[in-house]
Amino acid sequence: MFSNMRLKFLLLTLTVLYVTNASAKIYCANHTYGASVNTSYMQFTKEVIDQEYVMEGNFKYLHCCAKGYRSIEWLKDGKSYPWSSEDTSSLILYPDAENQTIFTRKASKIDEGKYTCVLRNATHKLEHHIDIKVISSSPDIPLATFKPVDQFVNVDGSARFYCEAFIGKKALPNIAISIKWHHLSDDSKVESINNDDNHIGEEVVYREDGQIIGSYLTITQVTLNHYGRYLCRIEIGNSYNHRLDMTASLINALPIEANFRSILTNHIFLGSCAAIIALITFFLFLHCTKSWWLDYVGASVKKEDDLQNKELAVFSCRKHLQPVKSDVNRHLRNKCDDIKIQIGSS
Ligand SMILES: *[C@@H]1O[C@H](CO)[C@@H](O)[C@H](O)[C@H]1NC(C)=O
Ligand SMILES: *[C@@H]1O[C@H](CO)[C@@H](O)[C@H](O)[C@H]1NC(C)=O
Ligand SMILES: *[C@@H]1O[C@H](CO)[C@@H](O)[C@H](O)[C@H]1NC(C)=O
Ligand SMILES: *[C@@H]1O[C@H](CO)[C@@H](O)[C@H](O)[C@H]1NC(C)=O
Repeated sequence: MFSNMRLKFLLLTLTVLYVTNASAKIYCANHTYGASVNTSYMQFTKEVIDQEYVMEGNFKYLHCCAKGYRSIEWLKDGKSYPWSSEDTSSLILYPDAENQTIFTRKASKIDEGKYTCVLRNATHKLEHHIDIKVISSSPDIPLATFKPVDQFVNVDGSARFYCEAFIGKKALPNIAISIKWHHLSDDSKVESINNDDNHIGEEVVYREDGQIIGSYLTITQVTLNHYGRYLCRIEIGNSYNHRLDMTASLINALPIEANFRSILTNHIFLGSCAAIIALITFFLFLHCTKSWWLDYVGASVKKEDDLQNKELAVFSCRKHLQPVKSDVNRHLRNKCDDIKIQIGSS
Protein backbone atom coordinates (compact mmCIF):
# COMPACT_ATOMS: atom_id res chain seq x y z
CA MET A 1 0.00 0.00 0.00
CA PHE A 2 2.71 2.38 1.12
CA SER A 3 5.07 1.51 -1.73
CA ASN A 4 2.21 1.83 -4.19
CA MET A 5 1.55 5.38 -3.00
CA ARG A 6 5.24 6.19 -3.15
CA LEU A 7 5.45 4.83 -6.65
CA LYS A 8 2.49 6.94 -7.70
CA PHE A 9 4.07 10.02 -6.13
CA LEU A 10 7.38 9.26 -7.81
CA LEU A 11 5.71 8.80 -11.18
CA LEU A 12 3.79 12.05 -10.77
CA THR A 13 6.95 13.91 -9.82
CA LEU A 14 8.82 12.42 -12.74
CA THR A 15 6.03 13.32 -15.16
CA VAL A 16 5.87 16.87 -13.88
CA LEU A 17 9.65 17.21 -14.09
CA TYR A 18 9.70 15.71 -17.55
CA VAL A 19 6.99 18.07 -18.82
CA THR A 20 8.75 21.04 -17.22
CA ASN A 21 12.12 20.03 -18.56
CA ALA A 22 10.94 19.30 -22.06
CA SER A 23 8.93 22.45 -22.64
CA ALA A 24 11.26 24.82 -20.80
CA LYS A 25 14.24 23.64 -22.81
CA ILE A 26 12.46 23.31 -26.13
CA TYR A 27 10.80 26.70 -25.85
CA CYS A 28 14.04 28.68 -26.13
CA ALA A 29 15.55 26.26 -28.65
CA ASN A 30 12.63 26.35 -31.09
CA HIS A 31 11.79 29.13 -33.52
CA THR A 32 14.90 31.17 -32.89
CA TYR A 33 15.57 34.11 -35.22
CA GLY A 34 17.47 33.04 -38.33
CA ALA A 35 19.97 35.85 -37.72
CA SER A 36 20.82 34.56 -34.25
CA VAL A 37 22.03 31.18 -35.52
CA ASN A 38 25.47 32.24 -36.74
CA THR A 39 26.10 35.19 -34.43
CA SER A 40 27.43 35.08 -30.89
CA TYR A 41 27.06 38.62 -29.52
CA MET A 42 24.62 39.16 -26.63
CA GLN A 43 21.05 39.17 -27.94
CA PHE A 44 17.51 37.86 -27.49
CA THR A 45 17.13 34.83 -29.71
CA LYS A 46 13.38 35.02 -30.36
CA GLU A 47 10.40 37.29 -29.76
CA VAL A 48 10.32 38.12 -26.06
CA ILE A 49 6.86 38.10 -24.55
CA ASP A 50 5.95 41.17 -22.50
CA GLN A 51 2.51 40.30 -21.17
CA GLU A 52 1.76 36.98 -19.49
CA TYR A 53 -1.42 35.50 -17.96
CA VAL A 54 -1.89 32.46 -15.81
CA MET A 55 -4.92 30.87 -14.18
CA GLU A 56 -4.64 30.63 -10.45
CA GLY A 57 -3.15 27.29 -9.34
CA ASN A 58 -1.57 26.47 -12.71
CA PHE A 59 1.99 25.96 -13.85
CA LYS A 60 3.72 29.06 -15.17
CA TYR A 61 6.98 29.77 -16.95
CA LEU A 62 8.59 33.09 -17.76
CA HIS A 63 11.27 33.00 -20.43
CA CYS A 64 13.99 35.36 -21.57
CA CYS A 65 15.51 33.42 -24.46
CA ALA A 66 18.95 34.84 -25.13
CA LYS A 67 22.57 34.07 -25.92
CA GLY A 68 26.02 35.63 -25.62
CA TYR A 69 25.47 36.84 -22.05
CA ARG A 70 27.89 36.46 -19.19
CA SER A 71 25.18 36.67 -16.55
CA ILE A 72 21.41 36.79 -16.38
CA GLU A 73 19.59 38.26 -13.42
CA TRP A 74 15.87 38.24 -12.58
CA LEU A 75 13.98 40.89 -10.65
CA LYS A 76 10.40 41.15 -9.50
CA ASP A 77 9.09 44.67 -8.96
CA GLY A 78 12.73 45.80 -8.61
CA LYS A 79 13.70 43.06 -6.10
CA SER A 80 16.40 40.72 -7.34
CA TYR A 81 16.32 36.95 -7.28
CA PRO A 82 16.54 35.02 -5.01
CA TRP A 83 13.57 36.84 -3.49
CA SER A 84 14.09 37.41 0.22
CA SER A 85 10.63 36.20 1.13
CA GLU A 86 7.97 33.90 -0.28
CA ASP A 87 5.61 36.89 -0.32
CA THR A 88 7.51 38.35 -3.24
CA SER A 89 6.95 35.49 -5.66
CA SER A 90 6.80 31.72 -5.84
CA LEU A 91 8.68 31.67 -9.13
CA ILE A 92 12.11 30.06 -9.01
CA LEU A 93 14.96 29.60 -11.48
CA TYR A 94 14.58 26.64 -13.73
CA PRO A 95 17.94 24.91 -13.10
CA ASP A 96 18.50 23.42 -16.51
CA ALA A 97 17.79 26.38 -18.78
CA GLU A 98 20.89 28.56 -18.29
CA ASN A 99 18.87 30.84 -16.00
CA GLN A 100 16.71 31.93 -18.95
CA THR A 101 13.53 30.53 -17.42
CA ILE A 102 11.82 30.96 -14.06
CA PHE A 103 8.74 28.98 -13.12
CA THR A 104 6.18 28.06 -10.52
CA ARG A 105 4.13 24.90 -10.22
CA LYS A 106 1.22 26.72 -8.67
CA ALA A 107 0.66 30.35 -9.53
CA SER A 108 -1.07 32.55 -6.98
CA LYS A 109 -1.97 36.23 -6.61
CA ILE A 110 1.42 37.03 -5.01
CA ASP A 111 3.10 36.12 -8.29
CA GLU A 112 1.47 39.05 -10.07
CA GLY A 113 3.73 41.94 -10.94
CA LYS A 114 6.49 43.15 -13.16
CA TYR A 115 9.41 40.80 -13.76
CA THR A 116 12.65 41.89 -15.39
CA CYS A 117 15.46 39.86 -16.82
CA VAL A 118 18.82 41.62 -17.07
CA LEU A 119 21.49 40.23 -19.37
CA ARG A 120 25.06 41.41 -19.06
CA ASN A 121 28.28 40.91 -20.98
CA ALA A 122 31.59 42.68 -20.32
CA THR A 123 30.38 45.98 -21.78
CA HIS A 124 26.60 46.02 -22.19
CA LYS A 125 23.32 45.38 -20.42
CA LEU A 126 20.06 44.23 -22.02
CA GLU A 127 16.76 44.33 -20.11
CA HIS A 128 13.33 42.92 -20.75
CA HIS A 129 10.15 43.42 -18.74
CA ILE A 130 7.37 40.86 -18.42
CA ASP A 131 4.12 41.77 -16.76
CA ILE A 132 2.18 38.85 -15.31
CA LYS A 133 -1.46 38.71 -14.29
CA VAL A 134 -3.01 35.86 -12.35
CA ILE A 135 -6.66 35.34 -13.35
CA SER A 136 -9.31 33.18 -11.79
CA SER A 137 -11.13 31.97 -14.91
CA SER A 138 -10.59 31.65 -18.64
CA PRO A 139 -11.23 34.86 -20.56
CA ASP A 140 -14.13 35.29 -23.03
CA ILE A 141 -11.90 37.11 -25.46
CA PRO A 142 -8.30 36.06 -26.19
CA LEU A 143 -5.87 38.23 -24.22
CA ALA A 144 -2.92 39.51 -26.25
CA THR A 145 0.44 38.34 -24.93
CA PHE A 146 2.52 39.36 -27.95
CA LYS A 147 1.46 41.95 -30.50
CA PRO A 148 3.07 41.70 -33.94
CA VAL A 149 5.52 44.50 -34.73
CA ASP A 150 6.09 46.37 -37.99
CA GLN A 151 8.93 45.06 -40.10
CA PHE A 152 11.21 47.07 -42.38
CA VAL A 153 12.55 44.75 -45.06
CA ASN A 154 14.14 45.15 -48.49
CA VAL A 155 12.89 43.35 -51.58
CA ASP A 156 14.34 39.79 -51.49
CA GLY A 157 14.83 40.02 -47.72
CA SER A 158 12.91 37.88 -45.24
CA ALA A 159 10.31 38.83 -42.66
CA ARG A 160 8.63 37.16 -39.72
CA PHE A 161 5.61 38.31 -37.78
CA TYR A 162 4.46 36.74 -34.55
CA CYS A 163 1.24 37.13 -32.64
CA GLU A 164 0.15 35.35 -29.49
CA ALA A 165 -2.70 35.31 -27.01
CA PHE A 166 -3.81 33.66 -23.81
CA ILE A 167 -7.06 31.72 -24.21
CA GLY A 168 -7.00 29.63 -21.03
CA LYS A 169 -8.74 26.32 -20.71
CA LYS A 170 -11.56 25.55 -23.06
CA ALA A 171 -14.81 25.24 -21.12
CA LEU A 172 -16.22 22.80 -23.66
CA PRO A 173 -14.21 20.53 -25.90
CA ASN A 174 -16.24 21.39 -28.99
CA ILE A 175 -15.47 25.09 -28.90
CA ALA A 176 -13.13 25.81 -31.78
CA ILE A 177 -10.14 28.02 -31.27
CA SER A 178 -8.68 29.55 -34.40
CA ILE A 179 -5.67 31.69 -35.14
CA LYS A 180 -5.11 32.95 -38.65
CA TRP A 181 -3.12 35.56 -40.54
CA HIS A 182 -4.80 37.68 -43.20
CA HIS A 183 -3.71 40.37 -45.60
CA LEU A 184 -5.44 43.75 -45.35
CA SER A 185 -6.10 45.49 -48.67
CA ASP A 186 -5.55 49.24 -49.06
CA ASP A 187 -9.18 49.84 -48.14
CA SER A 188 -8.85 47.53 -45.08
CA LYS A 189 -10.65 44.54 -46.59
CA VAL A 190 -9.64 41.27 -44.96
CA GLU A 191 -8.11 39.00 -47.61
CA SER A 192 -6.73 35.53 -47.12
CA ILE A 193 -3.04 34.82 -47.54
CA ASN A 194 -2.23 33.54 -51.02
CA ASN A 195 -1.84 29.76 -50.71
CA ASP A 196 -0.05 29.46 -54.05
CA ASP A 197 2.75 31.72 -52.85
CA ASN A 198 5.62 29.46 -51.75
CA HIS A 199 7.41 32.31 -50.03
CA ILE A 200 4.75 32.97 -47.39
CA GLY A 201 3.60 30.58 -44.69
CA GLU A 202 1.93 30.35 -41.29
CA GLU A 203 2.84 28.13 -38.35
CA VAL A 204 0.69 27.78 -35.26
CA VAL A 205 2.41 27.09 -31.93
CA TYR A 206 1.13 26.37 -28.42
CA ARG A 207 2.57 27.03 -24.97
CA GLU A 208 1.54 25.86 -21.57
CA ASP A 209 -0.82 23.05 -22.40
CA GLY A 210 -2.46 24.95 -25.22
CA GLN A 211 -3.57 27.78 -22.94
CA ILE A 212 -1.46 30.13 -25.01
CA ILE A 213 -1.71 30.07 -28.79
CA GLY A 214 0.56 31.85 -31.23
CA SER A 215 1.28 32.00 -34.93
CA TYR A 216 4.29 32.88 -37.06
CA LEU A 217 3.79 34.45 -40.45
CA THR A 218 7.02 33.97 -42.36
CA ILE A 219 7.95 35.48 -45.70
CA THR A 220 11.16 33.93 -46.95
CA GLN A 221 11.67 36.19 -49.98
CA VAL A 222 9.87 39.50 -49.99
CA THR A 223 8.46 40.78 -53.28
CA LEU A 224 6.61 44.05 -53.92
CA ASN A 225 3.25 42.23 -53.57
CA HIS A 226 4.05 41.30 -49.99
CA TYR A 227 4.26 44.85 -48.67
CA GLY A 228 1.26 46.10 -46.74
CA ARG A 229 -0.71 45.42 -43.62
CA TYR A 230 -1.28 42.01 -42.01
CA LEU A 231 -3.95 40.98 -39.54
CA CYS A 232 -3.64 38.24 -36.94
CA ARG A 233 -7.13 37.11 -35.87
CA ILE A 234 -7.66 34.84 -32.88
CA GLU A 235 -11.17 33.56 -32.19
CA ILE A 236 -12.77 31.52 -29.45
CA GLY A 237 -15.68 29.76 -31.09
CA ASN A 238 -16.88 31.35 -34.27
CA SER A 239 -18.19 34.52 -32.83
CA TYR A 240 -17.45 38.12 -33.54
CA ASN A 241 -17.63 38.90 -29.79
CA HIS A 242 -14.85 36.50 -28.86
CA ARG A 243 -12.30 37.72 -31.31
CA LEU A 244 -8.92 39.42 -30.95
CA ASP A 245 -7.47 41.32 -33.92
CA MET A 246 -3.87 42.52 -34.07
CA THR A 247 -2.15 44.12 -37.05
CA ALA A 248 1.34 44.99 -38.25
CA SER A 249 2.85 46.24 -41.49
CA LEU A 250 5.54 45.03 -43.82
CA ILE A 251 7.33 48.16 -44.95
CA ASN A 252 9.91 48.58 -47.69
CA ALA A 253 13.11 49.36 -45.78
CA LEU A 254 14.96 51.03 -48.58
CA PRO A 255 13.04 52.02 -51.68
CA ILE A 256 16.36 52.55 -53.49
CA GLU A 257 14.92 54.29 -56.53
CA ALA A 258 12.83 56.67 -54.46
CA ASN A 259 15.74 57.42 -52.11
CA PHE A 260 18.10 57.99 -54.99
CA ARG A 261 15.60 60.28 -56.66
CA SER A 262 15.14 62.32 -53.50
CA ILE A 263 18.91 62.61 -53.01
CA LEU A 264 19.25 63.69 -56.62
CA THR A 265 16.40 66.20 -56.33
CA ASN A 266 17.99 67.57 -53.17
CA HIS A 267 21.31 68.00 -54.87
CA ILE A 268 19.79 69.70 -57.89
CA PHE A 269 17.80 71.97 -55.62
CA LEU A 270 20.81 72.87 -53.45
CA GLY A 271 22.96 73.33 -56.56
CA SER A 272 20.40 75.69 -58.12
CA CYS A 273 20.17 77.70 -54.90
CA ALA A 274 23.95 78.07 -54.76
CA ALA A 275 24.10 79.13 -58.41
CA ILE A 276 21.35 81.73 -57.97
CA ILE A 277 23.00 83.17 -54.86
CA ALA A 278 26.36 83.31 -56.65
CA LEU A 279 24.81 85.15 -59.62
CA ILE A 280 23.01 87.66 -57.40
CA THR A 281 26.22 88.30 -55.47
CA PHE A 282 28.13 88.78 -58.71
CA PHE A 283 25.66 91.30 -60.10
CA LEU A 284 25.49 93.18 -56.81
CA PHE A 285 29.28 93.31 -56.83
CA LEU A 286 29.29 94.59 -60.41
CA HIS A 287 26.68 97.19 -59.58
CA CYS A 288 28.56 98.52 -56.54
CA THR A 289 31.91 98.65 -58.30
CA LYS A 290 30.48 99.82 -61.60
CA SER A 291 32.49 103.01 -62.07
CA TRP A 292 35.72 101.40 -60.98
CA TRP A 293 35.00 98.42 -63.22
CA LEU A 294 34.20 100.55 -66.24
CA ASP A 295 37.40 102.53 -65.78
CA TYR A 296 39.41 99.38 -65.48
CA VAL A 297 37.82 97.67 -68.49
CA GLY A 298 38.02 100.82 -70.57
CA ALA A 299 41.68 101.32 -69.74
CA SER A 300 42.64 97.75 -70.44
CA VAL A 301 40.68 97.72 -73.71
CA LYS A 302 42.45 100.87 -74.77
CA LYS A 303 45.84 99.45 -73.79
CA GLU A 304 45.13 96.23 -75.63
CA ASP A 305 44.02 98.18 -78.67
CA ASP A 306 47.29 100.11 -78.77
CA LEU A 307 49.36 97.05 -78.32
CA GLN A 308 47.42 95.18 -80.99
CA ASN A 309 47.90 98.01 -83.48
CA LYS A 310 51.63 98.03 -82.89
CA GLU A 311 51.88 94.29 -83.14
CA LEU A 312 49.76 94.24 -86.29
CA ALA A 313 51.89 96.88 -87.93
CA VAL A 314 55.09 95.00 -87.16
CA PHE A 315 53.48 91.71 -88.16
CA SER A 316 52.34 92.99 -91.57
CA CYS A 317 55.69 94.61 -92.06
CA ARG A 318 57.47 91.32 -91.48
CA LYS A 319 54.99 89.39 -93.56
CA HIS A 320 55.54 91.78 -96.41
CA LEU A 321 59.29 91.22 -96.20
CA GLN A 322 59.01 87.41 -95.88
CA PRO A 323 60.14 86.39 -99.40
CA VAL A 324 63.36 88.45 -99.12
CA LYS A 325 66.55 86.47 -98.66
CA SER A 326 67.69 85.73 -95.16
CA ASP A 327 70.89 87.76 -95.10
CA VAL A 328 69.04 91.00 -95.86
CA ASN A 329 66.19 89.83 -93.73
CA ARG A 330 67.77 90.86 -90.47
CA HIS A 331 68.38 94.33 -91.67
CA LEU A 332 64.81 94.64 -92.90
CA ARG A 333 63.47 93.20 -89.69
CA ASN A 334 65.23 95.89 -87.80
CA LYS A 335 63.42 98.30 -90.03
CA CYS A 336 60.15 96.79 -88.99
CA ASP A 337 61.16 97.13 -85.36
CA ASP A 338 61.84 100.75 -86.08
CA ILE A 339 58.25 101.08 -87.24
CA LYS A 340 57.19 99.47 -83.96
CA ILE A 341 59.18 101.96 -81.98
CA GLN A 342 57.79 104.79 -84.04
CA ILE A 343 54.21 103.72 -83.43
CA GLY A 344 54.97 103.23 -79.76
CA SER A 345 56.39 106.64 -79.36
CA SER A 346 53.66 108.35 -81.35
C1 LIG B 1 10.32 22.22 -31.28
O1 LIG B 1 11.39 21.53 -31.85
C2 LIG B 1 11.28 20.13 -31.78
C3 LIG B 1 12.57 19.54 -32.26
O2 LIG B 1 13.08 20.26 -33.37
C4 LIG B 1 10.07 19.70 -32.62
O3 LIG B 1 9.92 18.31 -32.58
C5 LIG B 1 8.83 20.37 -32.06
O4 LIG B 1 7.73 20.08 -32.85
C6 LIG B 1 9.01 21.86 -31.99
N1 LIG B 1 7.90 22.43 -31.27
C7 LIG B 1 7.17 23.40 -31.75
C8 LIG B 1 6.10 23.92 -30.88
O5 LIG B 1 7.37 23.90 -32.84
C1 LIG C 1 25.28 29.32 -40.52
O1 LIG C 1 26.59 28.99 -40.95
C2 LIG C 1 26.69 27.71 -41.57
C3 LIG C 1 28.14 27.42 -41.84
O2 LIG C 1 28.87 28.58 -42.17
C4 LIG C 1 25.82 27.72 -42.84
O3 LIG C 1 25.89 26.47 -43.46
C5 LIG C 1 24.38 28.04 -42.46
O4 LIG C 1 23.58 28.15 -43.63
C6 LIG C 1 24.31 29.35 -41.69
N1 LIG C 1 22.95 29.53 -41.22
C7 LIG C 1 22.29 30.69 -41.32
C8 LIG C 1 20.90 30.70 -40.81
O5 LIG C 1 22.80 31.69 -41.80
C1 LIG D 1 28.03 43.01 -25.47
O1 LIG D 1 26.74 43.03 -26.03
C2 LIG D 1 26.52 44.04 -26.96
C3 LIG D 1 25.05 44.03 -27.36
O2 LIG D 1 24.68 42.81 -27.88
C4 LIG D 1 27.45 43.88 -28.15
O3 LIG D 1 27.25 44.91 -29.09
C5 LIG D 1 28.89 43.89 -27.66
O4 LIG D 1 29.75 43.64 -28.73
C6 LIG D 1 29.09 42.86 -26.55
N1 LIG D 1 30.40 43.02 -25.98
C7 LIG D 1 31.24 42.01 -25.82
C8 LIG D 1 32.54 42.35 -25.18
O5 LIG D 1 30.94 40.89 -26.17
C1 LIG E 1 22.52 31.37 -12.73
O1 LIG E 1 21.98 31.60 -11.46
C2 LIG E 1 22.80 31.09 -10.40
C3 LIG E 1 22.04 31.30 -9.11
O2 LIG E 1 21.57 32.60 -8.98
C4 LIG E 1 24.13 31.82 -10.40
O3 LIG E 1 24.97 31.30 -9.40
C5 LIG E 1 24.79 31.63 -11.77
O4 LIG E 1 25.98 32.39 -11.85
C6 LIG E 1 23.84 32.09 -12.85
N1 LIG E 1 24.43 31.83 -14.16
C7 LIG E 1 24.40 32.77 -15.13
C8 LIG E 1 25.02 32.35 -16.41
O5 LIG E 1 23.90 33.86 -15.00
